[in-house]
Amino acid sequence: MNKNVFRNFSYGVYVVSTLDNNRPTGCIANSIMQITSSPATVAVSMNHDNYTNSCIEASGKFAISILSEDSDPGLIGNFGFQSGKDINKFDTVSYETIGDLPVITDACGYITCKVIDKMETSTHTVFLGEVVEGDILKNEPAMTYAYYHKVVKGKSPKNAPTYIAEEETKTESAAKWVCGICGYVYDGDTPFEELPDTYTCPICKQPKSVFKQQ
Ligand SMILES: Cc1cc2nc3c(=O)[nH]c(=O)nc-3n(C[C@H](O)[C@H](O)[C@H](O)COP(=O)(O)O)c2cc1C
Repeated sequence: MNKNVFRNFSYGVYVVSTLDNNRPTGCIANSIMQITSSPATVAVSMNHDNYTNSCIEASGKFAISILSEDSDPGLIGNFGFQSGKDINKFDTVSYETIGDLPVITDACGYITCKVIDKMETSTHTVFLGEVVEGDILKNEPAMTYAYYHKVVKGKSPKNAPTYIAEEETKTESAAKWVCGICGYVYDGDTPFEELPDTYTCPICKQPKSVFKQQ
């Protein structure tokens, strides 16, 4: 199978949020689709190992914040490369509460959902959500998954359904500095050695020292 064919599917980039008892938590997901408009229903595919999965299961509800091209890429580092098991991801993020669900302020829109059904695969749960509320927050283009890869230059961790191992997609190219945490590729004009020691990854905010040459 040529796994690169999966790159021809188009997606957006979203923060799927929910409640851990009363504590807001959530993660990044690209695998969201609208199932029908009446009654408005969406589906999200959530890895069994994501803490967000068990919190959606327990609370029976979730919100989807739609990231825009102008949203801070640090949101993807915060929500997509660490776990709500270990930290309070919402401590460092501006959000509002809709119903009782947390919604990211720096997003172009949101919906809130109640879980009406689910389907299990060997690795992921597909949650079906009936939409309760929804609104546009900013008139900015939504970030597509392709924009995230090509412009923001981010990667996806193994838990993302669309993850493809690096060695399966490798092409010949010059050595690059790659963030060891989130996979961001530094390709600015300044030689990496000359960047200030205070340089941090624009996605996951980790220091220059975690970058490796590949
Ligand atoms: C661009 C991107 C897309 C992702 N898409 C999904 C997805 O659709 N489903 C999923 O289960 N995880 C996805 N992930 C991975 C989770 O966001 C990640 O494993 C997160 O750390 C889980 O956090 P949690 O343990 O707090 O739930 C994605 C990550 C990134 C960066």
